[in-house]
Amino acid sequence: MTPAPAISLHVNGDLVELSVDPMTRLSQALREELEITGTKVGCDAGDCGACTVLLDGQPVCACLTPVGRLSGTRVETVESLSASPAGRALQAAFLRHGGAQCGFCTPGMLMAGSALLARVTTPTEAEIQDALGGVLCRCTGYRQIIDSIADAGRLDPNDPTEPALGKAVGARVARVDGPIKVRGDDRFGDDGAPRDALTISVVRSPYPSAGFDLGDVDRYVARTPGVVAVLSAADVPGRNCFGVIPAAADQPVFAEAHTRFEGEAVAAVVAEPGAAVELGGFPLTWQPRPATMHPADATRSGAALIHADRPGNILVNGFVATGDVEATLAEADVQVEGQFRTTFVEHAYIEPESGWAELSDDLIVIHVTTQTPHMDREATAAILGVDPERVVIRPTACGGGFGGKLDLSIQPILALAALRCERPVRITYSRPESMASTTKRHPASISARLGADRDGQLAALDFHATFDTGAYASWGPTVANRVPIHAGGPYRYRAYRARTEAVHTNGPPAGAFRGFGVPQAAIAQECLFDDLARRLGLDPLELRLRNALRAGDPTVTGQVFASGVGYVDCLEALREPWTEALRRAAELNSAAGPRRAGVGLAGAWYGCGNTALPNPSTIKVGLTPDGQVRLHQGAVDIGQGSNTVMAQICADALGVPLRNITLVDAGTDHTPDAGKTSASRQTYVTGNATFEAATRLRAELAELAGLPADARLVIDGGVLTVARDTDRAEVHLAELPTDAEGFVAVAVATYDPPTTALDENGQGEPYAVFGYGAQVVQLDVDTGTGVIRLHGIDAAYDVGRAVNPTLVEGQIIGGIAQGIGMALMEEYVPGVTDNLHDYLIPTIGDVPAVRVTLVESGDPLGPYGAKGVGEHALLPTAPAILNAICHAVGRPVRRVPATPDRVLQAVRGR
Ligand code: FES
Repeated sequence: MTPAPAISLHVNGDLVELSVDPMTRLSQALREELEITGTKVGCDAGDCGACTVLLDGQPVCACLTPVGRLSGTRVETVESLSASPAGRALQAAFLRHGGAQCGFCTPGMLMAGSALLARVTTPTEAEIQDALGGVLCRCTGYRQIIDSIADAGRLDPNDPTEPALGKAVGARVARVDGPIKVRGDDRFGDDGAPRDALTISVVRSPYPSAGFDLGDVDRYVARTPGVVAVLSAADVPGRNCFGVIPAAADQPVFAEAHTRFEGEAVAAVVAEPGAAVELGGFPLTWQPRPATMHPADATRSGAALIHADRPGNILVNGFVATGDVEATLAEADVQVEGQFRTTFVEHAYIEPESGWAELSDDLIVIHVTTQTPHMDREATAAILGVDPERVVIRPTACGGGFGGKLDLSIQPILALAALRCERPVRITYSRPESMASTTKRHPASISARLGADRDGQLAALDFHATFDTGAYASWGPTVANRVPIHAGGPYRYRAYRARTEAVHTNGPPAGAFRGFGVPQAAIAQECLFDDLARRLGLDPLELRLRNALRAGDPTVTGQVFASGVGYVDCLEALREPWTEALRRAAELNSAAGPRRAGVGLAGAWYGCGNTALPNPSTIKVGLTPDGQVRLHQGAVDIGQGSNTVMAQICADALGVPLRNITLVDAGTDHTPDAGKTSASRQTYVTGNATFEAATRLRAELAELAGLPADARLVIDGGVLTVARDTDRAEVHLAELPTDAEGFVAVAVATYDPPTTALDENGQGEPYAVFGYGAQVVQLDVDTGTGVIRLHGIDAAYDVGRAVNPTLVEGQIIGGIAQGIGMALMEEYVPGVTDNLHDYLIPTIGDVPAVRVTLVESGDPLGPYGAKGVGEHALLPTAPAILNAICHAVGRPVRRVPATPDRVLQAVRGR
């Protein structure tokens, strides 16, 4: 065959020639042929816009652009921005305003933004939304991106934001890992993969329940060009089983004899790079079986068992109770009740599961996008049947996780393939594959009864939720146990009962997703609160204030916090926007017309960390002879900002400028376990470990000079100066002995939150720290179409202490955006919604202005008083939206997402 003529074009100003198939995607040519990896691929279908580049100055999706039509054109990628003042100003604005969190969408955002700024120097918000409408972000909620672009023309790109000594905590410093994100230099799951690595394709079940027989795979390998090996359950040398809760672990790496959900892996095909692997010829026969897709069917008498050892298809039950609920409800002056339903929700992180593996001496080294490297290592080693020391997890930059990258996915497949083939291997899930095979938010069916006295004092709540936990356990036990503690919200009750069960179906495994079931519970509880307020003729804010938890009040588990309970302050912070929004809505509704304005309020609380279980984090920080403070930061930064937060805490605790801190990545071979990035725990738990390690190092360094621990330190290259009052000493670090890691001094500290086990009624101290928040939503409803427009959200959060207010606000706005999606548009239907075209997440036009008030209650246990906010951010949004809809149309919507047809049903009273 005659080779295709080379295609000549300019990329970032350089003339390049591409000798590839003309139909090759530009994104692939950039990444694979030219090894320019700043351009990211999130969907390969033009839905996410992460791959946006400029083609002759115009933004295009590189994944939809065949190189065959690019001869003589000019392509610019994110790597080009640093070369121009305008590009540097845009990068600086993203750093200043927190426009990048995980950073995976950032190259696309920057390129779309730069095209706009080339046309319009000071764009309006509408122009920015229009220009960036094709690029999805799952982290930021877009508002800080809008601020970044609006401000880009006004910023001095060289303006440093260095906080004063000892003032790093509390400062709006730019992310320490921000520069590499805005330059396109951050290395995500696939970015570092050797281009000659073998590729892996996974063979998956097309049925939610089926038996299967593998045919002659050796023959398939021998007869299929490019295929090197096939892996199946027979090739798993250790335990073909994993799960994040060891006692409930039940999911095979490769199914054995039958599959339990559509998309389950049965085998993997390893092939030479560039080989066109045809899975259609894979030797496999299926015997489809009846599937059970709903918990109501799964728990029916005689239903087929999805796991033989789980009677009734019940994975686990959760329970918290205090007082006599039935008697207290019977005595209550007013009682309301309701049934609520939620659906599967997809994490939709823009970076799909991605990574690569290699053998290094006796080690299996896995480079992977993950939220939990040490758990990955233990679980992968058990699957391989090797000592955990032989497995090294090197977390890459993580393009969003939200709980979905807590479970194993590609890690064992990569390891098995690398071991079998003894060559580097790589895999990136396609978007449909990612959506089909990884965990989801649990669908919930909730019924609840709430009673109160005539004056609005709460009497009792009776709450019952059934969660569809899908085919495998994943985080089902955590959801079932966390929800009963939180289902009452941050309020006082005389009696309380919350029961949950996680039920297996043949749906996808439901796992951790920002809130572990609490967002679903908050919908029921906060909507019933508004029902109650209506029945009592009370202002919803007043009802909540009358019953809000305060310091000294017992929670529903009997736990009492003497301080750090800032919920009332959050509600008070919203009093003015709430009152003003109600006034405006009444004014708008005084005019006739199909559009009705509504205002909704909701609050929430959330415990930081594991539920009544050990939850330690360990941090190591050391000083090198050349004066580097090396912070081994094992709290994986998935965009939320732990790299920056830990550096800020370390700097202040050690007493040195932030610029002295050098981060060391979370590789399991050199950085201690700082636990999972989940459960809103890193700022509180790992932050405390960081504080303690840095404090110890400070004392150790002061001791070197014979001075007390509170002496001042100045590190200038290899010279450490220690001073206190008139005492002053210099230490030449190169003259000191070093340890095996090259440190002249090092400190390691572990922090484990003080919690207690719960008794049979769920009484005890499940979390050492709770965070609180509330939101007010303004919207209008078109009563003719059911379409909802959001006009603004006010949010107030007790975060204890904002270590970095810009990052905290970014978490809150990002959580709100996910709450909007859950409330209004997101519904994952197994086997149906397999891409980001059909599965809708909020775009830049869907998130209204968000005004954030930070309440700093100063938690007594948190580092510098700080506590978590990652999950709290999402919790009130959906119930506040539902309450606003009800306020607008006069009838409630009990099922999310509140799509236009469901809203219309409410309007019409059906
Ligand atoms: Fe946009 Fe993560 S920062 S997807």
